[in-house]
Amino acid sequence: MDNFTYHAPTEVVFGKGAENDTGKMAAKYGASKVMLVYGGGSVIKSGLLDKVKASLNEAGVKYIEFGGAKPNPTLEHAEEGIDLAVHEQVDMIIGVGGGSSIDTAKAIAHGTANVDYPLWDIWTGKTALLRSMPVGAVLTIPAAGSEMSDSAVLTNEKLGKKQGINTDFNRCKFAIMNPEWCFTLPKYQLGAGITDIMMHTLERYFIPDYNCAMTDEIAEGLMRTVITNGLILMKDQNDYDAMAEIMWCSSLSHNNITGLGRPKDFSVHKLGHALSARYDITHGASLSAVWGSWAEYLYNYATDRFSQYARKVWHVQNSNDAQASREGILRTIDFFTMLGMPTSLSQLNVEITKKDLQLLALDATKDDTVKLTHIIPLGAKEVMDIYNAAM
Ligand code: NZQ
Ligand code: ZN
Repeated sequence: MDNFTYHAPTEVVFGKGAENDTGKMAAKYGASKVMLVYGGGSVIKSGLLDKVKASLNEAGVKYIEFGGAKPNPTLEHAEEGIDLAVHEQVDMIIGVGGGSSIDTAKAIAHGTANVDYPLWDIWTGKTALLRSMPVGAVLTIPAAGSEMSDSAVLTNEKLGKKQGINTDFNRCKFAIMNPEWCFTLPKYQLGAGITDIMMHTLERYFIPDYNCAMTDEIAEGLMRTVITNGLILMKDQNDYDAMAEIMWCSSLSHNNITGLGRPKDFSVHKLGHALSARYDITHGASLSAVWGSWAEYLYNYATDRFSQYARKVWHVQNSNDAQASREGILRTIDFFTMLGMPTSLSQLNVEITKKDLQLLALDATKDDTVKLTHIIPLGAKEVMDIYNAAM
């Protein structure tokens, strides 16, 4: 087991009526005037935004609104938010929605606290991020895990690049989670979200040669819970208990608890981000489209991990490690299909040529300067092979 520091400081308010505590939480963490960041309008339609505003009024916290974060949120939109936040002198940013709204809120917080520096320089590490502002989340989709993660992701449309930044400044002070607000989700977004939750733990699981029994049990238990309750939601997405399980898994799958003691990988995310940046593909779909070929490419180098996954998560009985590994991979691909997700590039409904695959492979590996995965090093050539196999 590697050394690790575990710090997941977000205060979680979970369950029915949780949104009524937004004002109380904002005040507790020092807000006098907050910016509410949301997306394309689902939180207006559902009535959640009104509830959040009422709660802030009750707590005597002023607010302004900044809507329009789109899925795969953009740098440009976050920069508009920074201008507004600076002008209005807000002292806390609250994302109301999914990963796109919460990540935009995080970006606005970082930019507002560092107005003298371009946000993209902060994002890419050219300028060190030494301070930020408090961020809160009111979650409406179990998926990205941004409500507890140390991560935020933006797309720079001018450069055609989608990139994340990892820092403790990305940790929300509080996260408000009422599963009932997820009932209005389009089924495709729910399937994509469940895929992303599964993937955040899969991305931490397969690196061989580390003994992390407790972490494994947490990871395997989380994945079994996601599978069982994800399939219930595909039949009835108004099932409160199943939505509650999935929502809690969303937060735990990406707050680092399912990977402690093992290096962090996230290579499938690199392949997915390259696809989303060029074709604006829904995040979960960008992952399910390539995971199968990624796993087929790598399982022979980590059959102990892949076979353990198959046996502990999918209850595969096969005593041959290589065969069990493959059964686990096929069961996972079937699961993504049951969630309504694409499992190949051709199912993404965008035109991708072999030449495009080369560009994608260069994007995913930062022009072949970065090797992906701790299983075996994947450069641009190997990533290209994986994309090719996913066609
Ligand atoms: O924009 P609105 O109108 O709110 O509609 C959204 C959006 O169209 C809709 N939606 C969300 N909740 C709803 C709802 N519609 C009806 N009822 C509800 N209750 O769903 C669509 C997707 O929303 P989005 O916020 O994009 O979803 P998600 O949470 O999947 O976030 C995706 C973004 O997060 C990034 C992804 O790359 C992507 O940009 N990620 C962020 C991470 C992090 N910060 O830790 C980690 C992840 O790996 C991921 O990369
Ligand atoms: Zn993800």
